[in-house]
Amino acid sequence: MPLKSVVHYLQPVDDWLPIDKQVGIAGVINGLAMKVLFLDQSGQLGGAELSLTDVAKHFKHQGLVYLFEGGPFADKLAAAQVPYKVRQRPSLSISKESGLWQGLLSLRQLLPLVGEVAKMAQTYDLIYANTQKALVVGAMASVLARKPLVYHLRDILSAEHFSPINRRVAITLANTCATLVIANSQATRQAFMDAGGRPQLIKVVYNGFDPDQYEGQPLLRPVLQQQHAIQEGFWIGHFSRLSPWKGQHVLVDALQYLDEAVQVLLVGKALFGEDDYVQSLQAKILNFGLQDHVHFLGFRSDIPALMASCDLVAHTSTSPEPFGRVIIESMLSGCPVVAAKDGGATELIDHGKTGWLCPPNDPQQLAQMIGECQRQPQLRQKIATQARVQASQTFSLEQTNQVIAGLLQQHVRRTTSS
Ligand code: UDP
Ligand code: GLC
Repeated sequence: MPLKSVVHYLQPVDDWLPIDKQVGIAGVINGLAMKVLFLDQSGQLGGAELSLTDVAKHFKHQGLVYLFEGGPFADKLAAAQVPYKVRQRPSLSISKESGLWQGLLSLRQLLPLVGEVAKMAQTYDLIYANTQKALVVGAMASVLARKPLVYHLRDILSAEHFSPINRRVAITLANTCATLVIANSQATRQAFMDAGGRPQLIKVVYNGFDPDQYEGQPLLRPVLQQQHAIQEGFWIGHFSRLSPWKGQHVLVDALQYLDEAVQVLLVGKALFGEDDYVQSLQAKILNFGLQDHVHFLGFRSDIPALMASCDLVAHTSTSPEPFGRVIIESMLSGCPVVAAKDGGATELIDHGKTGWLCPPNDPQQLAQMIGECQRQPQLRQKIATQARVQASQTFSLEQTNQVIAGLLQQHVRRTTSS
């Protein structure tokens, strides 16, 4: 059911070129290379940054990623041989929950950055904002530099994630300055429109993945058993930054209803200062006496191998997940996944065929589903096999990049000819 719509949105609409015709023209306008200036506010490696790496790689001969702060994301771009530049001055301090007053104060920090970006943009055909602060900067710079702006919207613009003023700013800037908004799921698109975003501006393009990167992974179980003292049993992996809305606590709560064989691997760290949450999680684990059953592995860069070593992946976000890269990665790694039934996750999983969807924030129901998976290894295998086939066909990086390149090209052409 939802997968039909995936295909619909990946198909050309209006005056797009058919996908097969887009091959070979990606990133080229009127025979000339199209130059893209990508903007991202974060130096950390979140899903938005990992997805941007995959897009920017496609444009590496004619693009530049400008980061508002340094960090592991810059290293990742360097390793992928994607040209990037890190801003030398201190980063912006606007948070997702910022109010009007803080917003006005941060204008002082913002204006020099807008000037820098506008100057850089002179030699590019397009500004591509990958995050919300990048949108704010990119929008102003696009007006100054008279360049088209594309906003890759990777967040659900709802009250759960953003303050009212931040939502209003995002919608107003997107509506007035962007020529195109790319949403990472239909849930993200819907939230944009519900918040007042113009429907004709926004297209859904799902994140793409390279299936080869998930094939033939080494089994890490023996190493993990040794290094992290994880006992043999039924291993559940949770792959996400440690953050309240990613819901690691829901999985820990569910453990109370599960048997002794269950071991939980929490992979990821607090990327954006959620140290209080980590402490509360640790206290909960101690309180329940689950120290031998929950293991913190920290941030890892061998995700496919870790996923392939688990019996089940749990995704437990308590607010709607905009897309959820970890869900598709689990499918491609051959590990069955149970995910919170909300947001983009409901578009990625066909319940009972390619994974399972569980009501969010409900540890008892989650435990029941996990228990059923645990008791049925053959069913797990069947679901994992179906999911792998489905995910590699539907979420191909090659196709995603072609669609994005086609969209960018179309928008640059439209702006230059008007
Ligand atoms: N990830 C990682 N190392 C970790 C934990 C997570 O590389 O230790 C990656 C994970 O594989 C996924 C991304 O971080 O690609 C998280 O993206 P997702 O869309 O699931 O959530 P986000 O954090 O962007 O909201
Ligand atoms: C954001 C979202 C996540 C999505 C990622 C890539 O980080 O939180 O759900 O998968 O962007 O689009």
